[in-house]
Amino acid sequence: MSSHSLPARFRKLTVGGRRDALREACGLTEQQLAGFGTDPDMLERADVMVEYAVGYVAVPIGVAPGFVIDGETRNIPLATEEPSVVAAAAFAGSLVSREGGFTTRASEPLMTAQVYLRNAPAGAEGRVLAGEQRIRSAVAAVLARMESRGGGLRRIEATRLTGTDGVNHLRVHLHVDVRDAMGANILNSVAESARPVIEELSGGEAVMCILSNAAADRTAEARFSIPVAALSRRGFTGEQVAARVVEAAAIADTDPDRAVTHNKGIMNGVSALALATGNDTRAIESAAHRFAVREGRYGSLTRFALDSGRLEGRIELPAPFGTVGGAADFHPAAKSALAVLGNPDAQTLGRIAASLGLAQNLAALSALVSEGIQQGHMRLHARRLAFDAGARGEEIAAVAARLHDSGLFDRDQAEALLREVRDDVR
Ligand code: MEV
Repeated sequence: MSSHSLPARFRKLTVGGRRDALREACGLTEQQLAGFGTDPDMLERADVMVEYAVGYVAVPIGVAPGFVIDGETRNIPLATEEPSVVAAAAFAGSLVSREGGFTTRASEPLMTAQVYLRNAPAGAEGRVLAGEQRIRSAVAAVLARMESRGGGLRRIEATRLTGTDGVNHLRVHLHVDVRDAMGANILNSVAESARPVIEELSGGEAVMCILSNAAADRTAEARFSIPVAALSRRGFTGEQVAARVVEAAAIADTDPDRAVTHNKGIMNGVSALALATGNDTRAIESAAHRFAVREGRYGSLTRFALDSGRLEGRIELPAPFGTVGGAADFHPAAKSALAVLGNPDAQTLGRIAASLGLAQNLAALSALVSEGIQQGHMRLHARRLAFDAGARGEEIAAVAARLHDSGLFDRDQAEALLREVRDDVR
């Protein structure tokens, strides 16, 4: 038996039992085990959220304050391990907000359940559509509560697909308004409940039933228009920065290799908001990248243009956010994050995400086309080096400032500067 083998009953143990087994098998110290969290309530929650739970991860949460979105002020919680993300959001959020803020729009919260069938004889598409009432009856029980909240099955589509392998499938789409849910569970239940009737109507054999994460019909849009003068920064006029932001956005739209990084910067904010609010970050990211390639080539999620001395920015992206169900109303941090946001509904959360993504992109582009982003990163890196060297409390800022002045960013230098700071205090 290897020293890392865990007991065969590992899954069946309590969360405490699993932690003990893990400590023993991997030779972890108490301190190392404590890295997986120690709060008893969170450990119990982790145990009902995922299988084989042994703990939880503490990711920093920062709040980007004062985003004015459709006239309302929102403080936006972001959960991220990456330095500069919250600072960038706060910087561009307040810049745009001082100039009137963001204007947004969200589509209805429509998500799609998919049923794929093989060997469906000719005419199956028409028979499925003609059988809409039978499909509606089949999913009525699953959708009863959703309908009482104003959601429900909106539309059915049937499409014939021919794969690259020549195999022919019938795809049936059930478009469901999921209101404030992210919707994955309900959509999967809808697809599975509809499956027997769809098989019967089409004469085909279902291969699989699952939601589509594309969420192409559940989008949010945000815009701003600010005077270019607001963008001036050390060594650059506002006109210069604005013109270069437009140019940088055009480069992203020309070159998919740049667009990936450009969109990654947008998702720095959107995913951090998703994580803070207990949303499915992978679903939101896959949908965004699918959307970015909707015109056949991977491009930017944002658009920038100059108009009469103003920089106009716009973003549209899928927003499969939920504010009920999943972790959103179960995880204590998610509940707190939603409370900080004023307990928005899912469409409002999508509109906030779009504004945040646009702000994140404006911050990244305006830094990249002027002084570059490394200066800001190094400021935060200096704080981490100071902490690693043993600085605490006010010592962190003092050591970080000296590291900055010295231009030498390494652990030995941080330790030497910490000694200096302590000597000065004595
Ligand atoms: C870093 O996480 C994000 C940026 O690379 C985004 C961008 O390049 O636009 C700064």
